[in-house]
Amino acid sequence: MDLSSCDVLVVGGGGAGLRAAIAVAETHPRLRVAVISKVYPMRSHTVSAEGGAAAVIKAEDSLDEHAYDTISGGDWLCDQDAVEAFVREAPEEMLRLEHWGCPWNRERDGHIAVRPFGGMKVERTWFAADKTGFHLLHTLFQTTLKYDAIQRYDEFFVTKLLVGEGRCQGVVAIELSTGQVRAITANAVILCTGGCGKIFPFTTNASIKNGDGMALAYRAGAPLKDMEFVQYHPTGLPFTGILITEAARSEGGWLLNKDGYRYLQDYELGTPTPKPVFRSMELGPRDRLSQCFVKEQEKGRTLEGPYGHYVHLDIRHLGEKLIDKKLPFVRELCLKYVGIDPVKEMIPVRPVVHYMMGGIHTDIHGATPLKGLYAAGEAACVSINGANRLGSNSLTEILVFGARAGKAAAAFAAEQAGASPSLVAQAHDEQRRIEERFLRKSGGKERIATLRAEMHQIMEESAGIYRTETVLKEAAGKLKRLQERFQDLSLDDRSYTFNTELTAALELSYMLDVAQTIVHSALERRESRGSHQRTDYPQRDDERFLAHSLAYRAEEGSPRIAYRPVTITRWPPGKRVYGR
Ligand code: FUM
Repeated sequence: MDLSSCDVLVVGGGGAGLRAAIAVAETHPRLRVAVISKVYPMRSHTVSAEGGAAAVIKAEDSLDEHAYDTISGGDWLCDQDAVEAFVREAPEEMLRLEHWGCPWNRERDGHIAVRPFGGMKVERTWFAADKTGFHLLHTLFQTTLKYDAIQRYDEFFVTKLLVGEGRCQGVVAIELSTGQVRAITANAVILCTGGCGKIFPFTTNASIKNGDGMALAYRAGAPLKDMEFVQYHPTGLPFTGILITEAARSEGGWLLNKDGYRYLQDYELGTPTPKPVFRSMELGPRDRLSQCFVKEQEKGRTLEGPYGHYVHLDIRHLGEKLIDKKLPFVRELCLKYVGIDPVKEMIPVRPVVHYMMGGIHTDIHGATPLKGLYAAGEAACVSINGANRLGSNSLTEILVFGARAGKAAAAFAAEQAGASPSLVAQAHDEQRRIEERFLRKSGGKERIATLRAEMHQIMEESAGIYRTETVLKEAAGKLKRLQERFQDLSLDDRSYTFNTELTAALELSYMLDVAQTIVHSALERRESRGSHQRTDYPQRDDERFLAHSLAYRAEEGSPRIAYRPVTITRWPPGKRVYGR
């Protein structure tokens, strides 16, 4: 087996991963850092982020306002020490990106332009038209190229974390072009693999977002935190789930029901305003807007198409000039994927799974409870997003906490001795598992597509916008049975070169593990908070549940749920108020 080593290994080549790698190279220039990713870094999901990244920049704004919007938007489940660090370091990170070449939109006088975003009371979302993720990722990627210390393993699929002497010491990965299984040892590993939207049938997430890092950490004994909090974005395209950015509403777009009525005015989110303003109802927080869609559907006021119910997003009144200048990607996506021109026609939209507030439990420096293992970005839960993330906080989060995790992992790695001898044997065991379990196994009756479709249905029905005890309990049982059936999986492709059937099987196994943590965490949280709405427990219950859930992998394969307190510094729990 091919064995290589580095000092810090970053898994994932998106925004958090690249920012972490740069932080290692900058703070500890003698350390060798490697970025391993199942796709070429510029194909990471960060590239598809659209609307912008939040950071205080205007005189009328303040760090405390940003912190408060984030905490109340998160329904008081955010750790406030993490939020305070986040808002403090955000402007610095965004300016650093500017110096590295990110083409932020400008005001006429040359100042950074900002737009209002959902749930924020002050304009603080920096943007690069509606292709912010592309520009941000490109900026980070080109910056990594100037560091000789940063090495890359592009198109390598990580199947296991190597753990020896109680600490994480590397990974086993398949080189996708050859099928060769390789071991890469490291003194510290940072998981930056993004979220897991593909567990659900309708999502803005790219096909690569299967919860890989979450499952790797969970299998290695690190807990997953707040997994019940799944964010639906109110405006995805039906069927494909492609994101129609919140920026469309921030620029003044309206949400209309089947009668052409701005229905959000019926839900305490504000009155209709002709212009986009901070408290415009279309810029309410995502959890609330998605819940309003369901209510509207129950009243029979949505439209119905081949891919379920939908409403309309109307941006025609913004005019072609503004749309082409500030929302060119929205126009392009509508033309290419729905065959409509939003300059002249309304856009069909529905809530689709967009983001996981939960993830690998880390401290404020990105450290997990497993020594040597760090995490950042959507894969991690620090937690600054609580029960509902505000749009545009996540691009900034990958910068702030990518950098923090990189620095902390580098400091840890610099203190460690070499790899422990048991790792090679572990890597050989993993190679054998992949061969025997997938490539040489015959006679299995189950197919990937069947199991995946069933998982999608279970998750949509049980862990969607509204949840109940009965349905969640049933879902837990059904997922357990899917796990058993997965053991009887059969693959047709036995080849080693770009075996996408093998990677799809491994991804499905990650998704099943993560799906179980979502359902079990949702089952145990008997209250409603942010994106977790239990119709059988409709109130927020701070007495019992002002706490983070932690899902641990138990012996029997199902998760065990525990809790830890939320850190409150300066903002005691209060009521979330939006509208006028
Ligand atoms: O709608 C959007 O552009 C999404 C932004 C975000 O999730 O932060």
